[in-house]
Amino acid sequence: MPRGYQKAIRADITTLHVDVIVNAANSSLLGGGGVDGAIHRAAGPELVGECRLLGGCNTGDAKITKAYRLPARHIIHTVGPVWRGGAHGEAALLASCYKRSIELATQAGARSIAFPAISTGIYGYPKEQAAPIAVAEAEGIDEVIFCCFSEDDLAIYERLLSRRPYTCT
Ligand code: AR6
Repeated sequence: MPRGYQKAIRADITTLHVDVIVNAANSSLLGGGGVDGAIHRAAGPELVGECRLLGGCNTGDAKITKAYRLPARHIIHTVGPVWRGGAHGEAALLASCYKRSIELATQAGARSIAFPAISTGIYGYPKEQAAPIAVAEAEGIDEVIFCCFSEDDLAIYERLLSRRPYTCT
């Protein structure tokens, strides 16, 4: 299967002109803090209206909406695991977030997708352990962007991506 191109940038994900941005949501899908709050604020109040119709989302799963006032075309809302020490299936659930997001993006015909560092903020997943899962699972779309909010996050992703070749076909 083609892997596409992965890159890391430092940016506010709400500003990106890509087909899909991914939201690190909670199971209600009705908004929250962190990147979720930023996305809802920037997309406008119509977003929560559509989210209300979705009936929530399980941890490790994802749902897609329109992106309203954002420059992206769609938002994929995924629910990462809360870190509880690492022995509660957190790694598999985090991997599932990236996989399900890629599946939904593929179904929507997306050619570019931007991910935040799911679960590594309020949900407490250690950044160094989360990033290799993201890099391993977020593939299959032409352009995959790891949208980092801090220099520390960017350094982690750049180190990982420099170790593996960018594959075009
Ligand atoms: N653009 C890109 N990344 C961002 C932005 C932004 N505008 N804002 C924050 N980040 P978090 P979680 C980074 O806490 O850990 C919410 O209340 C942030 O620095 O947003 O999955 C939800 O409703 C971190 O690297 O998400 C849930 O209740 C990453 O995004 C809960 O938080 C994820 O941090 C989900 O927690």
